[in-house]
Amino acid sequence: MLYSEKVMDHFTNPRNVGEIPDADGVGEVGNAKCGDIMRMYLKIEDGNIKDVKFKTFGCGAAIATSSMATELIKGKSIEEALKLTNSAVVEALEGLPPVKIHCSVLAEQAVKSALSDYYTRLGIDPKPIVGEIGDCEDCH
Ligand code: FES
Repeated sequence: MLYSEKVMDHFTNPRNVGEIPDADGVGEVGNAKCGDIMRMYLKIEDGNIKDVKFKTFGCGAAIATSSMATELIKGKSIEEALKLTNSAVVEALEGLPPVKIHCSVLAEQAVKSALSDYYTRLGIDPKPIVGEIGDCEDCH
């Protein structure tokens, strides 16, 4: 089996799918090579992630990692959400095949990009943090 049960679970039954119309921060990241796109919406109250939703147009691992990323940051403080790493997402999913690790990087970047947008709206952080997504040659 290529994917762990956890990955299959989050792929077939993704948590927190959708949009937040009055979101406080929205982040969108994409991988130019595989064409996958992830959009993350955050509702922030008193420095905490009150709600989070995502829309991912991408591979199964991209959907599973975005679903898990939302689960990991929901209810947490902004500081904790900023510490979310792709390896924490992979670990929570009980592993990903090496060629799919970059999909988890996309999830980490989507969270950071949404938080960056939140700070931009507050006038604190004028530059969005949109990092380089890892090399995607082995995708698909
Ligand atoms: Fe590129 Fe999954 S995000 S194949």
